[in-house]
Amino acid sequence: MDKIVIEGGHELHGHIRISGAKNAALPIIAATLLTPGWHTLYNVPDLHDIRTILSLLATLGVVWEKIGPGTIRINSADLVSCEASYELVKTMRASVLVLGPLLARMGRARVSLPGGCAIGARPINFHIQGLKKLGADVVLEQGYVEAAVSGRLSGGTVYFDFPSVTGTENMLMAAVLARGTSTLKNVACEPEIGNLIDMLIAMGAEIEGRDTDRLVVHGVERLNPAEITIIPDRIETGTYLIAVGAVGGDVTLTDCEPVLLPALTEKLRIAGLELQEGDNFFRVRGRGSLASVDIKTMVYPGFPTDLQAQIMALMIFADGTSFINETIFENRFMHVAELRRLGADIKVDGASAIVRGGSRLTGAKVMATDLRASASLVIAGLAAQGVTEISRIYHLDRGYENLVEKLAGVGAVIRREKDE
Ligand code: EPZ
Repeated sequence: MDKIVIEGGHELHGHIRISGAKNAALPIIAATLLTPGWHTLYNVPDLHDIRTILSLLATLGVVWEKIGPGTIRINSADLVSCEASYELVKTMRASVLVLGPLLARMGRARVSLPGGCAIGARPINFHIQGLKKLGADVVLEQGYVEAAVSGRLSGGTVYFDFPSVTGTENMLMAAVLARGTSTLKNVACEPEIGNLIDMLIAMGAEIEGRDTDRLVVHGVERLNPAEITIIPDRIETGTYLIAVGAVGGDVTLTDCEPVLLPALTEKLRIAGLELQEGDNFFRVRGRGSLASVDIKTMVYPGFPTDLQAQIMALMIFADGTSFINETIFENRFMHVAELRRLGADIKVDGASAIVRGGSRLTGAKVMATDLRASASLVIAGLAAQGVTEISRIYHLDRGYENLVEKLAGVGAVIRREKDE
């Protein structure tokens, strides 16, 4: 295993190019299961999770090849299996995204239940309820979801008790080939879902209601291969904005989409960061003093839960006290204990954390527990005095392309080492 070693206190100056969004690429790669033929995807990030879903698709008979930087071609013409094994699904719960497209294309799917993860139980009951509403027989057997339908799925009305992101994506990919019209209500409207909808429409799907909480899908008999550009990763963008706020500097983020971060930019400006934004760039300057802000994570366009750990790290350096309320996941404060090791004064009370600002952190050995928690440890390490070592950074490799190189490129003293 590797670790990251950071010598804190070095301001960040320069440019960082933002990569394609992991959480847009994953459902779009799954959507290529819906029809044979060569699909072409541009701006695909080179991440462990992307390699995982491509390996999963390869076990189903999908072929793919990299044809340029960030560009892959995928062809699911010769599917040989409809089963996503526990061995693969347990490493990445987003593998559940093959459920909808396999059922729609092949009439059956056998997908391991993902099991929980560090941030919560993360059931998939909404996915299962929705597929049943479209006419599938779904049983849970020996830790697997066994779904089947004779012929095509039938259009129906699905209401989500909670606007689940991958639940919405699975239902969309099931409904596009169903017989008749499906109405999906109380769905999530994260930008990554919009990117998936653009891909499905390019493939010939008929979908109304993009970016709203109600989608109407008119099923078609077949789809065609298509090409799509993955949108910029808004969570990666937010992570680097926050990093500059924590340690100071003047950085321009390119190939990003500021309009996708309405809640974060509002909060960062109140905290005192200087933000300039264009269609595809941010320029962020940290001005030293920081005001504390209160955060409540919400579904889009509210404050993203995937930036909660990162902004908590920022609030350690702010003047005053910040109240952070995590409403999406039941156990997403794993980073608190590690931040405390660096000297942070944070108290957790149920779904809320109270961050007393004004702390001066000192470097220490800490451990990454999940993807976004590891990002918060990097941010804290950049601003701490002395050296911070972060172990188990395979968590980071799942969702951040070339993080060490990108930060070192703007002046951070950061390197990757073997963890003895
Ligand atoms: C997606 O996960 C993202 N992953 C997560 O990003 C993100 O944190 C999350 O959405 C919320 O924005 C991908 O897109 C691959 P949910 P997802 O279904 O779809 C409960 C990252 O860091 N729920 O919207 O799994 C669930 O337990 C990852 O990149 C049910 O109860 O999240 C949670 O409390 C982490 N039953 C809430 O809903 C269900 O059937 C939101 O979950 C589904 C979800």
